[in-house]
Amino acid sequence: VGLIAGGYLVRRRDLIGGTLAAGAALATHAAAGAGNAPVREAGTTRAWVIGTPPGIDSLRLVTRPLREPGPGEALIEVHASSINARDRGIVARQFPVAGPKRADVPLSEGAGRVVAVGAGVTRIRVGDRVASCHFPTWVDGRWDPSVYAADVGNTIDGWLAERIVLPESGLVRLPDEVSYESAATLASSGVTAWHALNVVARVRPGDTVLTLGTGGVSTIGLQLARLAGARVVVTSSSDAKLEKMRELGAMLGVNYRTTPLWGPAIHERTGGVDVVLENVGRATLDQSMEASGNDATIVMIGTGPLPPQLPKMPGLVVKNLGLKAISNGSRRMFEDLLAAIAANGLRPLVERTFEFAQAPDAFREMERSDHVGKVLIRHR
Ligand SMILES: NC(=O)c1ccc[n+]([C@@H]2O[C@H](COP(=O)([O-])OP(=O)(O)OC[C@H]3O[C@@H](n4cnc5c(N)ncnc54)[C@H](OP(=O)(O)O)[C@@H]3O)[C@@H](O)[C@H]2O)c1
Repeated sequence: VGLIAGGYLVRRRDLIGGTLAAGAALATHAAAGAGNAPVREAGTTRAWVIGTPPGIDSLRLVTRPLREPGPGEALIEVHASSINARDRGIVARQFPVAGPKRADVPLSEGAGRVVAVGAGVTRIRVGDRVASCHFPTWVDGRWDPSVYAADVGNTIDGWLAERIVLPESGLVRLPDEVSYESAATLASSGVTAWHALNVVARVRPGDTVLTLGTGGVSTIGLQLARLAGARVVVTSSSDAKLEKMRELGAMLGVNYRTTPLWGPAIHERTGGVDVVLENVGRATLDQSMEASGNDATIVMIGTGPLPPQLPKMPGLVVKNLGLKAISNGSRRMFEDLLAAIAANGLRPLVERTFEFAQAPDAFREMERSDHVGKVLIRHR
Protein backbone atom coordinates (compact mmCIF):
# COMPACT_ATOMS: atom_id res chain seq x y z
CA VAL A 1 0.00 0.00 0.00
CA GLY A 2 2.93 2.34 -0.41
CA LEU A 3 4.48 4.17 -3.30
CA ILE A 4 7.66 6.09 -3.73
CA ALA A 5 7.28 9.80 -4.44
CA GLY A 6 10.63 11.44 -4.88
CA GLY A 7 12.31 8.86 -2.74
CA TYR A 8 9.81 9.40 0.08
CA LEU A 9 7.55 6.47 0.88
CA VAL A 10 3.99 7.65 1.39
CA ARG A 11 0.95 5.52 2.23
CA ARG A 12 -1.22 5.29 -0.89
CA ARG A 13 -4.53 6.09 0.86
CA ASP A 14 -3.03 9.37 2.07
CA LEU A 15 -2.48 10.56 -1.47
CA ILE A 16 -6.05 9.96 -2.53
CA GLY A 17 -7.36 13.21 -1.01
CA GLY A 18 -4.73 15.16 -2.92
CA THR A 19 -2.52 15.85 0.08
CA LEU A 20 -0.34 13.77 2.28
CA ALA A 21 -2.10 13.69 5.64
CA ALA A 22 -0.08 14.07 8.81
CA GLY A 23 0.95 10.72 10.11
CA ALA A 24 0.78 9.47 6.58
CA ALA A 25 4.34 10.23 6.14
CA LEU A 26 6.18 6.97 6.35
CA ALA A 27 9.04 8.84 4.85
CA THR A 28 12.22 7.06 3.99
CA HIS A 29 14.92 9.07 2.38
CA ALA A 30 15.89 6.73 -0.41
CA ALA A 31 17.31 9.53 -2.52
CA ALA A 32 20.86 10.66 -3.16
CA GLY A 33 21.93 7.39 -4.63
CA ALA A 34 20.53 5.24 -1.85
CA GLY A 35 17.32 4.39 -3.75
CA ASN A 36 16.62 2.05 -6.64
CA ALA A 37 16.18 4.61 -9.43
CA PRO A 38 19.29 5.54 -11.44
CA VAL A 39 20.68 8.84 -10.23
CA ARG A 40 21.55 11.50 -12.84
CA GLU A 41 23.79 14.33 -11.83
CA ALA A 42 22.81 17.98 -12.33
CA GLY A 43 26.40 19.21 -12.09
CA THR A 44 27.88 20.26 -8.79
CA THR A 45 27.06 22.56 -5.91
CA ARG A 46 29.10 24.21 -3.20
CA ALA A 47 27.86 23.23 0.26
CA TRP A 48 28.99 23.43 3.88
CA VAL A 49 29.29 19.88 5.26
CA ILE A 50 29.66 18.69 8.86
CA GLY A 51 33.06 17.05 9.43
CA THR A 52 34.63 14.79 12.02
CA PRO A 53 34.85 15.37 14.90
CA PRO A 54 31.66 17.39 14.52
CA GLY A 55 31.11 20.99 15.62
CA ILE A 56 31.17 24.49 14.14
CA ASP A 57 34.93 24.27 13.48
CA SER A 58 34.36 21.07 11.48
CA LEU A 59 32.22 22.82 8.84
CA ARG A 60 33.95 22.63 5.45
CA LEU A 61 32.96 24.34 2.22
CA VAL A 62 33.16 21.66 -0.48
CA THR A 63 32.10 21.24 -4.09
CA ARG A 64 30.03 18.08 -4.36
CA PRO A 65 27.99 16.37 -7.08
CA LEU A 66 24.33 17.29 -7.19
CA ARG A 67 21.79 14.83 -8.55
CA GLU A 68 18.91 15.82 -10.79
CA PRO A 69 15.54 16.07 -9.02
CA GLY A 70 13.84 12.68 -9.01
CA PRO A 71 10.08 12.05 -9.18
CA GLY A 72 8.28 14.38 -6.78
CA GLU A 73 11.33 16.58 -6.19
CA ALA A 74 12.52 20.06 -7.14
CA LEU A 75 15.99 21.55 -7.58
CA ILE A 76 16.28 24.95 -5.91
CA GLU A 77 18.86 27.73 -6.27
CA VAL A 78 19.25 28.97 -2.69
CA HIS A 79 19.05 32.73 -2.01
CA ALA A 80 19.11 32.84 1.79
CA SER A 81 19.08 30.58 4.84
CA SER A 82 19.00 31.09 8.57
CA ILE A 83 20.02 29.36 11.79
CA ASN A 84 17.97 28.02 14.68
CA ALA A 85 19.02 26.91 18.15
CA ARG A 86 18.70 23.28 17.07
CA ASP A 87 21.18 23.69 14.21
CA ARG A 88 23.99 24.13 16.72
CA GLY A 89 23.05 20.75 18.19
CA ILE A 90 22.83 19.19 14.74
CA VAL A 91 26.26 20.49 13.72
CA ALA A 92 27.64 19.07 16.99
CA ARG A 93 25.85 15.77 16.20
CA GLN A 94 24.08 16.12 19.55
CA PHE A 95 20.53 16.78 18.41
CA PRO A 96 18.39 14.16 20.16
CA VAL A 97 16.05 13.17 17.33
CA ALA A 98 17.84 11.60 14.40
CA GLY A 99 16.34 9.52 11.60
CA PRO A 100 17.73 6.59 9.66
CA LYS A 101 20.23 8.94 8.01
CA ARG A 102 21.94 12.06 9.28
CA ALA A 103 22.28 15.09 7.04
CA ASP A 104 25.74 16.14 5.90
CA VAL A 105 24.53 19.68 5.12
CA PRO A 106 22.79 21.56 7.97
CA LEU A 107 19.99 24.16 8.20
CA SER A 108 16.25 23.68 8.15
CA GLU A 109 15.32 27.20 7.06
CA GLY A 110 15.93 28.69 3.63
CA ALA A 111 14.37 30.12 0.51
CA GLY A 112 15.20 30.13 -3.17
CA ARG A 113 14.07 29.76 -6.77
CA VAL A 114 13.05 26.50 -8.44
CA VAL A 115 15.38 25.77 -11.39
CA ALA A 116 14.25 22.22 -12.29
CA VAL A 117 11.55 19.76 -11.31
CA GLY A 118 11.35 15.97 -11.46
CA ALA A 119 8.67 13.77 -12.97
CA GLY A 120 5.15 14.14 -11.62
CA VAL A 121 5.69 17.52 -9.97
CA THR A 122 2.48 19.53 -10.31
CA ARG A 123 2.26 22.01 -7.41
CA ILE A 124 5.50 23.86 -8.19
CA ARG A 125 6.94 25.20 -11.45
CA VAL A 126 10.39 26.26 -12.64
CA GLY A 127 10.86 29.92 -11.71
CA ASP A 128 8.72 29.75 -8.55
CA ARG A 129 10.08 31.42 -5.42
CA VAL A 130 9.78 28.87 -2.61
CA ALA A 131 10.63 27.86 0.93
CA SER A 132 10.25 24.39 2.42
CA CYS A 133 8.70 22.97 5.56
CA HIS A 134 11.36 21.41 7.70
CA PHE A 135 9.11 18.33 7.88
CA PRO A 136 8.24 18.08 4.14
CA THR A 137 5.95 15.11 4.65
CA TRP A 138 3.72 16.77 7.29
CA VAL A 139 1.27 18.43 4.94
CA ASP A 140 -1.80 18.79 7.16
CA GLY A 141 -3.69 17.13 9.98
CA ARG A 142 -2.33 15.48 13.09
CA TRP A 143 1.26 15.12 14.21
CA ASP A 144 3.14 11.87 13.67
CA PRO A 145 6.79 11.57 14.72
CA SER A 146 7.54 9.52 11.61
CA VAL A 147 7.92 12.87 9.80
CA TYR A 148 11.38 13.06 11.39
CA ALA A 149 12.51 10.56 8.74
CA ALA A 150 12.59 13.51 6.32
CA ASP A 151 13.65 16.48 8.46
CA VAL A 152 15.47 19.11 6.40
CA GLY A 153 18.93 19.83 7.79
CA ASN A 154 18.70 16.95 10.26
CA THR A 155 17.88 13.67 8.54
CA ILE A 156 18.02 14.95 4.93
CA ASP A 157 20.48 17.52 3.60
CA GLY A 158 19.62 21.12 4.45
CA TRP A 159 19.87 24.62 3.03
CA LEU A 160 23.53 25.51 3.63
CA ALA A 161 24.38 24.98 -0.04
CA GLU A 162 24.17 26.93 -3.30
CA ARG A 163 21.64 24.45 -4.71
CA ILE A 164 19.46 21.86 -2.99
CA VAL A 165 17.07 19.06 -4.02
CA LEU A 166 13.92 18.87 -1.88
CA PRO A 167 10.61 16.99 -1.95
CA GLU A 168 7.80 18.92 -3.64
CA SER A 169 5.42 17.91 -0.83
CA GLY A 170 7.06 20.37 1.58
CA LEU A 171 7.47 23.34 -0.74
CA VAL A 172 5.45 26.51 -0.24
CA ARG A 173 5.25 29.23 -2.91
CA LEU A 174 6.21 32.68 -1.62
CA PRO A 175 3.74 35.55 -2.01
CA ASP A 176 5.21 38.50 -3.97
CA GLU A 177 5.25 40.60 -0.78
CA VAL A 178 7.58 38.19 1.05
CA SER A 179 11.30 38.50 0.26
CA TYR A 180 13.70 35.58 0.14
CA GLU A 181 15.36 37.00 3.28
CA SER A 182 12.09 37.09 5.25
CA ALA A 183 10.95 33.70 3.97
CA ALA A 184 14.28 32.12 4.93
CA THR A 185 13.57 32.80 8.63
CA LEU A 186 10.21 31.08 8.87
CA ALA A 187 10.26 27.29 8.43
CA SER A 188 11.33 26.59 11.99
CA SER A 189 10.79 29.56 14.29
CA GLY A 190 7.95 31.19 12.32
CA VAL A 191 5.90 28.03 11.80
CA THR A 192 6.43 26.99 15.43
CA ALA A 193 5.21 30.35 16.75
CA TRP A 194 2.23 30.27 14.36
CA HIS A 195 1.32 26.75 15.49
CA ALA A 196 1.58 27.76 19.17
CA LEU A 197 -0.41 30.98 18.92
CA ASN A 198 -3.00 30.30 16.27
CA VAL A 199 -3.54 26.54 16.31
CA VAL A 200 -2.91 25.53 19.94
CA ALA A 201 -3.70 28.67 21.98
CA ARG A 202 -6.08 30.31 19.46
CA VAL A 203 -4.98 33.71 20.66
CA ARG A 204 -7.73 36.34 20.71
CA PRO A 205 -7.67 40.14 20.47
CA GLY A 206 -7.07 41.56 23.94
CA ASP A 207 -5.26 38.44 25.23
CA THR A 208 -1.92 38.84 26.96
CA VAL A 209 0.86 36.65 25.56
CA LEU A 210 4.11 35.99 27.43
CA THR A 211 7.06 34.99 25.26
CA LEU A 212 10.39 33.97 26.79
CA GLY A 213 13.68 35.34 25.48
CA THR A 214 14.56 37.42 22.45
CA GLY A 215 15.64 34.77 19.92
CA GLY A 216 14.05 33.65 16.68
CA VAL A 217 10.91 32.01 18.07
CA SER A 218 10.27 34.76 20.60
CA THR A 219 10.58 37.71 18.18
CA ILE A 220 8.34 36.28 15.47
CA GLY A 221 6.03 35.14 18.30
CA LEU A 222 5.81 38.72 19.50
CA GLN A 223 5.10 39.99 15.97
CA LEU A 224 2.41 37.37 15.30
CA ALA A 225 0.76 37.91 18.70
CA ARG A 226 0.55 41.65 17.95
CA LEU A 227 -0.92 40.82 14.55
CA ALA A 228 -3.66 38.87 16.35
CA GLY A 229 -4.45 41.88 18.55
CA ALA A 230 -2.75 40.61 21.71
CA ARG A 231 -0.61 42.43 24.30
CA VAL A 232 2.87 40.97 24.65
CA VAL A 233 5.18 40.52 27.66
CA VAL A 234 8.82 39.45 27.13
CA THR A 235 11.56 38.17 29.43
CA SER A 236 15.27 38.53 28.72
CA SER A 237 18.67 38.53 30.41
CA SER A 238 19.41 41.94 28.86
CA ASP A 239 17.76 45.34 29.30
CA ALA A 240 19.11 46.40 25.89
CA LYS A 241 17.40 43.43 24.24
CA LEU A 242 14.17 44.19 26.12
CA GLU A 243 14.30 47.71 24.72
CA LYS A 244 14.48 46.29 21.19
CA MET A 245 11.47 44.08 21.96
CA ARG A 246 9.56 47.15 23.17
CA GLU A 247 10.37 48.85 19.85
CA LEU A 248 8.93 45.76 18.15
CA GLY A 249 5.67 46.17 20.11
CA ALA A 250 6.10 44.52 23.52
CA MET A 251 4.00 46.11 26.26
CA LEU A 252 6.25 44.96 29.11
CA GLY A 253 9.76 43.55 29.44
CA VAL A 254 11.12 41.80 32.53
CA ASN A 255 14.80 41.00 33.07
CA TYR A 256 14.97 37.42 34.37
CA ARG A 257 18.46 37.96 35.77
CA THR A 258 17.55 40.92 37.97
CA THR A 259 14.03 39.58 38.69
CA PRO A 260 14.49 35.82 39.12
CA LEU A 261 10.92 35.46 40.40
CA TRP A 262 9.56 37.03 37.23
CA GLY A 263 6.44 34.83 37.23
CA PRO A 264 4.68 36.51 40.19
CA ALA A 265 5.97 39.91 39.01
CA ILE A 266 4.33 39.45 35.61
CA HIS A 267 1.14 38.12 37.20
CA GLU A 268 0.95 41.21 39.37
CA ARG A 269 1.47 43.57 36.44
CA THR A 270 -0.94 41.82 34.04
CA GLY A 271 -3.49 40.01 36.21
CA GLY A 272 -2.15 36.77 34.73
CA VAL A 273 -1.26 36.10 31.10
CA ASP A 274 -3.50 34.06 28.76
CA VAL A 275 -0.81 32.36 26.67
CA VAL A 276 2.83 31.47 27.30
CA LEU A 277 5.29 30.67 24.55
CA GLU A 278 7.54 28.52 26.76
CA ASN A 279 10.66 28.92 24.63
CA VAL A 280 13.06 27.65 27.29
CA GLY A 281 11.51 24.48 28.72
CA ARG A 282 11.44 22.73 32.08
CA ALA A 283 13.80 25.20 33.76
CA THR A 284 11.32 28.06 33.46
CA LEU A 285 8.05 26.16 33.70
CA ASP A 286 7.34 27.03 37.35
CA GLN A 287 7.73 30.75 36.68
CA SER A 288 5.62 30.49 33.51
CA MET A 289 2.85 28.89 35.56
CA GLU A 290 3.20 31.64 38.17
CA ALA A 291 2.80 34.26 35.42
CA SER A 292 -0.30 32.54 34.02
CA GLY A 293 -3.90 33.53 34.68
CA ASN A 294 -6.75 31.06 35.11
CA ASP A 295 -7.31 28.77 32.10
CA ALA A 296 -4.12 30.00 30.40
CA THR A 297 -2.39 27.87 27.77
CA ILE A 298 1.33 27.18 28.09
CA VAL A 299 2.84 25.95 24.84
CA MET A 300 6.03 23.95 25.40
CA ILE A 301 8.47 24.89 22.65
CA GLY A 302 11.93 25.01 24.21
CA THR A 303 14.15 22.02 24.63
CA GLY A 304 16.42 23.81 27.09
CA PRO A 305 18.38 22.57 30.09
CA LEU A 306 17.08 20.62 33.08
CA PRO A 307 16.17 22.69 36.14
CA PRO A 308 18.09 22.15 39.39
CA GLN A 309 14.84 20.73 40.79
CA LEU A 310 11.75 19.37 39.09
CA PRO A 311 8.97 21.87 38.33
CA LYS A 312 6.58 22.07 41.28
CA MET A 313 3.75 22.77 38.90
CA PRO A 314 1.85 24.75 41.54
CA GLY A 315 -0.85 26.21 39.41
CA LEU A 316 -1.50 23.48 36.90
CA VAL A 317 -4.67 22.25 38.60
CA VAL A 318 -5.50 25.29 40.74
CA LYS A 319 -5.44 27.57 37.70
CA ASN A 320 -6.80 24.94 35.27
CA LEU A 321 -3.86 25.50 32.96
CA GLY A 322 -3.45 23.87 29.59
CA LEU A 323 0.00 22.45 28.83
CA LYS A 324 0.74 21.40 25.25
CA ALA A 325 4.03 20.59 23.57
CA ILE A 326 4.54 21.08 19.85
CA SER A 327 7.07 20.05 17.22
CA ASN A 328 7.25 22.71 14.50
CA GLY A 329 4.16 22.59 12.22
CA SER A 330 2.56 21.41 9.00
CA ARG A 331 2.64 22.78 5.45
CA ARG A 332 -0.89 24.10 5.97
CA MET A 333 0.38 26.16 8.93
CA PHE A 334 3.32 27.46 6.87
CA GLU A 335 0.95 28.53 4.07
CA ASP A 336 -1.33 30.31 6.58
CA LEU A 337 1.69 32.03 8.14
CA LEU A 338 2.89 33.28 4.73
CA ALA A 339 -0.58 34.56 3.88
CA ALA A 340 -0.76 36.49 7.17
CA ILE A 341 2.72 37.93 6.68
CA ALA A 342 1.95 39.02 3.12
CA ALA A 343 -1.41 40.56 4.01
CA ASN A 344 0.06 42.60 6.86
CA GLY A 345 3.47 43.52 5.43
CA LEU A 346 5.14 41.89 8.44
CA ARG A 347 8.94 41.66 8.31
CA PRO A 348 10.60 39.12 10.61
CA LEU A 349 13.43 40.71 12.59
CA VAL A 350 16.83 39.85 11.09
CA GLU A 351 19.56 41.40 13.21
CA ARG A 352 22.73 39.94 11.68
CA THR A 353 23.47 38.88 8.09
CA PHE A 354 26.51 36.87 6.98
CA GLU A 355 27.71 35.95 3.49
CA PHE A 356 27.58 32.28 2.43
CA ALA A 357 31.39 32.03 2.59
CA GLN A 358 31.26 33.16 6.26
CA ALA A 359 28.65 30.61 7.39
CA PRO A 360 30.67 29.31 10.40
CA ASP A 361 30.78 32.89 11.74
CA ALA A 362 26.98 32.93 11.65
CA PHE A 363 26.94 29.80 13.84
CA ARG A 364 29.40 31.46 16.25
CA GLU A 365 27.11 34.48 16.40
CA MET A 366 24.24 32.17 17.41
CA GLU A 367 26.50 30.60 20.04
CA ARG A 368 27.30 34.01 21.60
CA SER A 369 23.54 34.73 21.73
CA ASP A 370 24.11 38.48 21.36
CA HIS A 371 21.40 38.71 18.70
CA VAL A 372 17.74 39.63 18.91
CA GLY A 373 15.63 37.84 16.29
CA LYS A 374 17.31 35.92 13.49
CA VAL A 375 20.81 35.38 12.12
CA LEU A 376 20.66 35.21 8.32
CA ILE A 377 23.04 33.83 5.67
CA ARG A 378 22.94 35.42 2.20
CA HIS A 379 23.76 32.94 -0.57
CA ARG A 380 23.62 35.22 -3.64
N1 LIG B 1 9.35 22.72 19.51
C1 LIG B 1 9.77 23.16 18.33
O1 LIG B 1 9.29 22.77 17.28
C2 LIG B 1 10.85 24.19 18.28
C3 LIG B 1 11.05 24.96 17.12
C4 LIG B 1 12.01 25.97 17.14
C5 LIG B 1 12.77 26.17 18.30
N2 LIG B 1 12.56 25.38 19.38
C6 LIG B 1 13.30 25.59 20.64
O2 LIG B 1 12.96 26.89 21.11
C7 LIG B 1 14.06 27.46 21.78
C8 LIG B 1 14.39 28.83 21.18
O3 LIG B 1 14.87 28.63 19.85
P1 LIG B 1 15.43 29.86 19.00
O4 LIG B 1 15.83 29.32 17.67
O5 LIG B 1 14.48 30.99 19.08
O6 LIG B 1 16.74 30.19 19.83
P2 LIG B 1 17.70 31.45 19.81
O7 LIG B 1 17.41 32.36 18.67
O8 LIG B 1 19.07 30.91 19.98
O9 LIG B 1 17.29 32.20 21.15
C9 LIG B 1 17.49 31.60 22.40
C10 LIG B 1 16.97 32.58 23.43
O10 LIG B 1 16.72 31.86 24.64
C11 LIG B 1 16.61 32.85 25.62
N3 LIG B 1 16.78 32.28 26.95
C12 LIG B 1 17.73 31.45 27.40
N4 LIG B 1 17.51 31.20 28.71
C13 LIG B 1 16.39 31.87 29.06
C14 LIG B 1 15.63 32.02 30.25
N5 LIG B 1 16.00 31.40 31.38
N6 LIG B 1 14.52 32.79 30.22
C15 LIG B 1 14.13 33.41 29.10
N7 LIG B 1 14.82 33.32 27.95
C16 LIG B 1 15.92 32.56 27.92
C17 LIG B 1 17.68 33.87 25.31
O11 LIG B 1 17.10 35.12 25.60
P3 LIG B 1 17.96 36.40 26.07
O12 LIG B 1 19.25 36.38 25.31
O13 LIG B 1 17.08 37.54 25.73
O14 LIG B 1 18.17 36.25 27.55
C18 LIG B 1 17.93 33.68 23.79
O15 LIG B 1 17.60 34.83 23.09
C19 LIG B 1 15.19 26.42 21.69
O16 LIG B 1 15.18 25.62 22.85
C20 LIG B 1 14.80 25.58 20.49
O17 LIG B 1 15.34 24.29 20.54
C21 LIG B 1 11.62 24.40 19.40
